[in-house]
Amino acid sequence: MSPRVVTTQADLQEAAAGLLAERRGSSLGLVPTMGALHSGHAALARAAAGSNDVSVAWIFVNPLQFGDATDLDRYPRTLDADVALLEDCGVDLVFAPSVEEVYPAGPPRVRITAGELGERFEGASRPGHFDGALTVVAKLLHLCAPPAPATYRAYFGQKDAQQLVLVQRMVADLNFAVEIVPVPIVRAEDGLALSSRNRFLSPEEHDGALVLSRALRYLEARARNHEALDIDGAQAMIESAPHVQLDYLEVVDPETLAPLAENCRRVPFRGEALVLVAAAVGPVRLIDNMPLRS
Ligand code: PAF
Repeated sequence: MSPRVVTTQADLQEAAAGLLAERRGSSLGLVPTMGALHSGHAALARAAAGSNDVSVAWIFVNPLQFGDATDLDRYPRTLDADVALLEDCGVDLVFAPSVEEVYPAGPPRVRITAGELGERFEGASRPGHFDGALTVVAKLLHLCAPPAPATYRAYFGQKDAQQLVLVQRMVADLNFAVEIVPVPIVRAEDGLALSSRNRFLSPEEHDGALVLSRALRYLEARARNHEALDIDGAQAMIESAPHVQLDYLEVVDPETLAPLAENCRRVPFRGEALVLVAAAVGPVRLIDNMPLRS
C-alpha cells in the first residue's frame, strides 16, 4: 500500500498515533532522510518497517546543514520516486514538511553544537554542517516521537559514520528517549558506496571513484591478516587515481573517531578500528568508510 504523505506536524502525529492504536502497536521506527532515495536508504526503510509496528520516513532537505546555497539548490528533489521506493519497503507514513513547517520562526537561534568532533573530518571542510544536521535531527526526533509508552527507534546509515557517532553522542549526552539503530553501508556491485551524489559523476569519474573502496578493502585485508596498516600505501593508491583528489584517509577509533596511535603503521594490527576516507571526484565530494577487525 502506498504510504500516506503528510506535510504538517499535526497530521503526522495524528496519523502515527492512529496507526499505532489501530494495530495495537507498541513501536515506531523512523528513517531520517533528505530524499533522493537509493538502495542505501531502502536498507534503512526496510529495517524500520520490518522491526516496528509503525514506520515513518522523513524527507526534508535541511537548509541549516548546507554551507553553500548552490549546493542546497542543486540537491536533488525526487518526492514521487522516493514515495514509490518507500512503498516497496513497506513504510507506512512519509513526513515531507516545508521549510516553514520545520522552522516557522525562521532559522532557529538556539542550536545543538557538535563540539570538537564536529570540526574534524567532514566538519573541517563544511563548517557548521554538523551543528545544522544535529539541530534538525534533534527537532525532528521530537516531532516524530510516538506517544508513550511506545518504543522509539531511529535508523541511521553507517555511510555517514561521523554523523552517526555524533547522533549517538547527542542522544546519550542529552537523554533523548530513542534507540539509534545503525545500518551497514550498501555498495554497488563495483564497490562504490551508494550516495545521492553519485548521479553527478561522469562515467570516467565513476571509474576513478572506485579507488576509494579499493583502498578501504586493501586496509581491511591487512587488518584481518594482523598486518601493520599501510596507510601511506592506501593514500598513494587514491592520489594516483584519475579525477580523484584525496581530502583525508584516517584510521580512527570506531566510537570516538579519535585517530589511532601512529604505531598502527608499523606494528601488527589487533582489535577494531574504522577507516574514514573523503575525496573530491570531479565536481562531487564523496565519503566512504570500512570497519577494520583483526
Ligand atoms: O543523513 C542525512 O540525510 C541528513 O543529514 C539527515 C540525518 C536526514 C538530517 O538532515
